[in-house]
Formats: sequence, C-alpha cells, structure tokens
Amino acid sequence: MMNEITLLRPDDWHLHLRDGEMLAAVCGHSSHFGRAIIMPNLVPPVVTGQQAADYRDRINAALPKNVTLRPLMTLYLTETTDPADVLRAHRDGVISAVKLYPAGATTNSASGVRDFDKVRPVFEAMAEAGIPLCVHGEVTDPEIDIFDREAVFIDRVLDPVRRKNPGLRVVMEHITTSDGVDYVGAGDDIAATITTHHLVINRNHILVGGIKPHYYCLPVAKRESHRLALRRAATSGDPRFFLGTDSAPHPDTAKESPCGCAGCFTAPNTMSILAHVFEEDGALDRLEGFASRNGPAFYRLPVNGDRIRLVKRDTPAEYPAKITTGAETVTVFDPGFPLYWHVEDPA
Ligand code: DOR
Ligand code: ZN
Repeated sequence: MMNEITLLRPDDWHLHLRDGEMLAAVCGHSSHFGRAIIMPNLVPPVVTGQQAADYRDRINAALPKNVTLRPLMTLYLTETTDPADVLRAHRDGVISAVKLYPAGATTNSASGVRDFDKVRPVFEAMAEAGIPLCVHGEVTDPEIDIFDREAVFIDRVLDPVRRKNPGLRVVMEHITTSDGVDYVGAGDDIAATITTHHLVINRNHILVGGIKPHYYCLPVAKRESHRLALRRAATSGDPRFFLGTDSAPHPDTAKESPCGCAGCFTAPNTMSILAHVFEEDGALDRLEGFASRNGPAFYRLPVNGDRIRLVKRDTPAEYPAKITTGAETVTVFDPGFPLYWHVEDPA
C-alpha cells in the first residue's frame, strides 16, 4: 500500500479569489498551488486588460509573504469586448485566457454573452493567437431543466461555436455530466476542468435529509452515474482532463439564505480530498497528471519546478470548518469522510 507520494507542484485551473476582505481571507488557502487561473466575475467584472493587471496587482499584494501562488488572469467576455485589447493583454503576459459566461448562467454573469455572433471577431483573434476560451457550459433558457443545462449547452451552443471558429481552443469548465466527458474526450482543441467537489458529491448530497446550501454550486451536482463518469475521466490519464477547483467562497449569510448563492469553498482541503479520491479508485499514480501536468500542457506552459508531498497518516488532517473574513465566516467544503492524506509543502 502506498502511504506517501510526491507530486510536481499542482496548479488550479479555475479559482475564485474575489476582492477586498474576502480576497485577503481566502488567497493564502491556495498556497499549495503553483499557479491559478483567476476568474473575472467580480462586481463589476474584469473586462479590460488594464482591469486584469490591476486585479493581478491586488492579488499579489494580498498574498501572504510565504505563498508563491502565481495568479494567471482572465478577461470576462462581453458583447463589447475589443479583440485588440484581448490580443494586447495576452501579448503583454497580463492574461492567460478569456472567460465566457452565458448571460445569467451563474454568480455575477449578467454582463455575459447573449448573441454569440457578436463575439465572433474576438473568437477569431483568440483562435489565431491560441488564447484559450474558458467556458461556463450551461444554457440559461428558463425552459431547460437545471439538470439538463450542460448537455443542452453542448448541442445548442458549444458545438456550433466550435464549428464556426475552427482552431479556437476551449476549456469546458467544471464539467458535471457524462455528456461533458464524452464530448471533450472526443475532441481536438478542447479540454475540461473537473472540480474536487464534483468528484465527491452527487445531487442527493444537496437534497436528501434537508437542503445543504454548502453543497450547492453551479453547474449543480448531477446524479450518481454522472459523478462516476467524472471520476473515470479524472483518473483516466487522458490529458484533456485536469483540475480546476472552482473554489468559490461566499459569506455563510449569503449561502444559508432563502435564496442561497452557488459555490463550494474547497481551496483549503482540495489536495487531501483528491488524494483520497484517487487512492479509492486505485489511481494515485495518475494524480500528478490530473493536478500538475495536464493543465500546463493545454495552456502551453512548463510544469512547476518543485514538489509537494502527500503522506497518509493514522490520524486525519485537520482543516478549519470555517474561516473568518471581516465580520463574516466562510464554510470550508466538508467531503463527508475523514482526510488521512496530509499535505507536506515543500516536499
Ligand atoms: O458555483 C459557482 N460559483 N459556480 C460558478 O460558476 C460561479 C461561482 C461563484 O462565482 O460563486
Ligand atoms: Zn467558477
């Protein structure tokens, strides 16, 4: 039995750090990651290269001195995004990707895209320059059942967009269905991130025995067969699948509410949970691919130069149930099982 494993330092290819007090409270919890793709859905959103550079500077100023996390910035795509600004920001090393939120799909997505023809010039410029498009893959049509929104998005939006824009490199973010796994697994110029929590919970965790707001996120967790498809994809070794935690902190008062918002805060315990999951599936030797190698390969970046060590001990690793930000608390994702894998950083 393997009780210890060293990994190239992992990266998080989808992370919400927020701003202000929340940023200060959460950013240190991603300390085991070398780099993170930072989501731009602030209020107001990060829509220009200058705003991305300013946000990057605020993140770097907020990071604790001993944390080496490097933020990789993204722009929030709107129907008025200027292709020249995207190209400039990418050329200057300010941004690593552009994020597409269908308007209304999730938290702070009101300025997202309604008419995909309006963003064709941006897609063309991105395809030419090889800039990845990170996609929140859910339709927003009120007639579509929330559990079907990812599958319908693939048929109605994602596949047509990819056909019309050959060469556009797409990351389908936080996939939650076997439909997403199958679509990505069959394609070129496409990859997918998978979150830690979607490898652990299905929709019963949210709804059985009382409603559990801290398991509610978007895309919402689906039925068990989909969770198992995600587990197979993550542990398969297929380089198209890699870690994007979508760690998305919200104050407890906003989650534990009659209209609770979406997001699971998994940054603190993600690596311990992933080690548990990959061991359970007999795939510990593939964790490095998923967490440390496949992401940089898709983003055309080198892997990180140092390592972390994961050690399985007799007593569980301890993580706080909540962290504090100003007068608020944020609940840390509870996987529902003890975490015997401890992170030793540096290795
Ligand atoms: O659960 C989610 N929370 N999904 C998203 O797409 C956005 C995120 C957030 O910003 O809170
Ligand atoms: Zn997200």
